[in-house]
Amino acid sequence: MRRILVTSALPYANGQIHLGHLVETIQTDIWVRFQKLKGHECLYFCADDTHGTPIMIRARQEGITPETLVERMHAEHLSDFNGFHIGFDNYYTTNSPENRLLSEEVYLKNREAGHIRVSTVRQAYCDHDGMFLPDRFIRGTCPACGAEDQYGDACEHCSGSHNPLDLKNPRCSLCGNPPVERESEHFFFRLTQFEAFLKEWIRSGALQPEMANKLDEWFTAGLQDWDISRDGPYFGFEIPDAPGKYFYVWLDAPIGYMASCWEWCKRHGRDFDAIWRRDDQMEVYHFIGKDILYFHTLFWPATLRGAGFRTPTAVFTHGFLTVNGQKMSKSRGTFITARRYLDLLNPEYLRYYYAAKLTARVDDLDLNLDDFILRVNSDLVGKVVNIASRSAGFIQKRFAGRLADRYPDDDGLHAQCVAAGEEIATFYEERDYSKAMRGIMILADAANRYVEAKAPWSLAKDPERTAELHDTCTVAINIFRILMIYLEPVLPQLAQRCREFLQVPPFTWESRLTPLSGQTIREFTHMMARVDPKKVEELVETIHPIPPAAPPQKATQSTPKTTRSPDPLPASTPPLEEPLDIETFSQVDLRVAKILAAEPVEGADKLLRLTLDLGELGQRTVFAGIRAAYPPETLPGRLTVLVANLKPRKMRFGLSEGMVLAAGPGGAELFLLSPDLGATPGMRIR
Ligand code: MSP
Ligand code: ZN
Repeated sequence: MRRILVTSALPYANGQIHLGHLVETIQTDIWVRFQKLKGHECLYFCADDTHGTPIMIRARQEGITPETLVERMHAEHLSDFNGFHIGFDNYYTTNSPENRLLSEEVYLKNREAGHIRVSTVRQAYCDHDGMFLPDRFIRGTCPACGAEDQYGDACEHCSGSHNPLDLKNPRCSLCGNPPVERESEHFFFRLTQFEAFLKEWIRSGALQPEMANKLDEWFTAGLQDWDISRDGPYFGFEIPDAPGKYFYVWLDAPIGYMASCWEWCKRHGRDFDAIWRRDDQMEVYHFIGKDILYFHTLFWPATLRGAGFRTPTAVFTHGFLTVNGQKMSKSRGTFITARRYLDLLNPEYLRYYYAAKLTARVDDLDLNLDDFILRVNSDLVGKVVNIASRSAGFIQKRFAGRLADRYPDDDGLHAQCVAAGEEIATFYEERDYSKAMRGIMILADAANRYVEAKAPWSLAKDPERTAELHDTCTVAINIFRILMIYLEPVLPQLAQRCREFLQVPPFTWESRLTPLSGQTIREFTHMMARVDPKKVEELVETIHPIPPAAPPQKATQSTPKTTRSPDPLPASTPPLEEPLDIETFSQVDLRVAKILAAEPVEGADKLLRLTLDLGELGQRTVFAGIRAAYPPETLPGRLTVLVANLKPRKMRFGLSEGMVLAAGPGGAELFLLSPDLGATPGMRIR
């Protein structure tokens, strides 16, 4: 049994999980599940990456502590990943006591070993905000091409990069004032001391060939020492013996892999030191996207090495997701969050589609939505599930749910499937999932040809051929089973349904060798529906039509700049299975709103366009599906309740900037909520 530790890159805590992140977590999860199926120990760790200026600023804007923000995002991220069946052994946070201790240790050991130096740095500082400004928080005119309103470090117009101090007419992007220059002491990790070690590490086969070449370029260009400190105010860990100085987020982020492992070890009585300090024959793999290669293949192994920890066995890099051939984009509607996808479609469709396209290389992966529908419908529903659905009924009706007593002669089909398992396993191991999926579909084709040739539906009509019918269906069910074993890393939920149907214990890769016979199986129930193209369309719709007689929650949508928006509630909200914690609930910004005007909307006979007064927060326009219940002239002047931080929704008639609350089933039976006397527009409802 191999012992393996695997990670996916830690998502930033200030953003929502989207389909790009899922390329990585699905790729990793498939690999982990495959290793487990093979009987190896494979531990999968991840966490939220919580530190840095953007989180600090965002929390400030929301009027909450960074800790509160980070906790809320953690819960959201975890529920998104659970929705996609990502089987982490631990999903932790970098803002943890374990991570603080480990970060301090990595730093101190490197310092003792002479790998840290101190230098004075000149940087942009905002007197008004009392802080040094990260490059991304400075805007000004590009020194090279003169384009206005560019970031401190890079110009989107000429694609050049520059020093923020060279920017013309620079402005603090928080307050708009011009920054000043200030000196400050910074700590540098002496990466240059690790060149020989890194070259050796790469020679050990730690990288894909294309990535090893990339590193050669970096070596040729010359390594540079790395600034690992930031001045306060900063949300992060203070550096030992340096009050007011904090570890740069990228120093403690990868240490978060270890911290997640450590916290898990404590709960499971396992020896953390054996894994990370004594290199206990544990293989360690990091799955990452190509944008963070530098951090994972230079800084990370070098800081580990400098602190006397083990280094990773390999880093596996993948490319970026495009949707319909283009970069994900909010305006095209192709910036699809995990939550939005889950509200519309089965997560296993996406897992399969990604698997069918992933290779061991670093190429970008395109989610082509038409191809997505075709692929999933034809492979999973048309080929795989079809094998079982065409035979299970006969077993049930004609043979009391019992498979033939002995596995019949099948012209070598089962043996062919077993043999192909070797190659499929190699493809999984090498992360060449597209080849694994192709191999599996070739077997599915063979099985379907077999069933068609035997035509159980004709056999069923001939009382003389009952035994043959029994045999054919027994073969078909067994081939379905073996294919589901092969697909389990990709489709864990479908595999589980299959096991329930067959009444068998958890699969192992070896369980494919022995076909089932003489046992009773359950009635075949619905396993997987075809992809509904309408839902796929909805996924990328930027114009969201109002559903008929929509509950008012859905009537209108959206968010002020400061807050992130929770996704809309499902149309008819079932009783919550999990009680909501107060943190989650308090994300909803409910406000007293005064209706200033209400007008019918041409072309939408259920809608009213409401102009709302929110006091100090200004006015909002909201489209609400309440026309059948309220003649427009009765509304102006009355107070109601607005969900103020929903993402604005572009609708055919204009932008809807929130949603008013009403009770009742809809149509004419809707009752707007209103506050008691004394409430005034803009008041927060708590
Ligand atoms: N917080 C850092 C990683 C720290 S790891 C110690 C970070 N976070 S991220 O949220 O921006 O990205 C997390 C992972 O998702 C990265 O590996 C990144 O490459 C990957 N992806 C983010 N967007 C992606 C696509 N559009 N496509 C594919 N992968 C993408 O980087
Ligand atoms: Zn400022």
